[in-house]
Amino acid sequence: MKRVLVINGPNLNMLGLREKAHYGELTLDQINELMKREAGGAISLDFYQSNFEGEIVEKIQNSLEYDALVINAAAYTHTSIAIRDALELFKKPIIEVHLSDVDKREKFRKVNYIRDLAEKTFKGEKQYSYINAIKYLKDKK
Ligand code: DQA
Repeated sequence: MKRVLVINGPNLNMLGLREKAHYGELTLDQINELMKREAGGAISLDFYQSNFEGEIVEKIQNSLEYDALVINAAAYTHTSIAIRDALELFKKPIIEVHLSDVDKREKFRKVNYIRDLAEKTFKGEKQYSYINAIKYLKDKK
């Protein structure tokens, strides 16, 4: 069975309270449950969330055995060369996820240190961005 780690960055532990027009109504726990449902028996999922850049770097360094990473680095997407460098160590598929469409928002969100490392990006579909990422990995040979 494929083993996939889902990494969420800063402030995503506050989903459900954050700007709902951008991020939807669901909490991160609810989104994780939807991903598990989508994964069914085909993918084994682990979940990690941190508000700290260095913790996310260390988590990636310690996760090289996974078959794929799904990452919403949140604001660190637009700022973190350290997370980018850690992701470069991971030689298997990296799927970038955002609830909102980062390319259609403020100019500073168009800066993206992760995009070119990602095999695929799902964005702008709120919780469905995550669900579609799992669907993609499930269908991938
Ligand atoms: C986000 C978009 C980022 O720009 C923002 O900083 C977030 C969430 C998203 O999922 O749409 O925290 O990654």
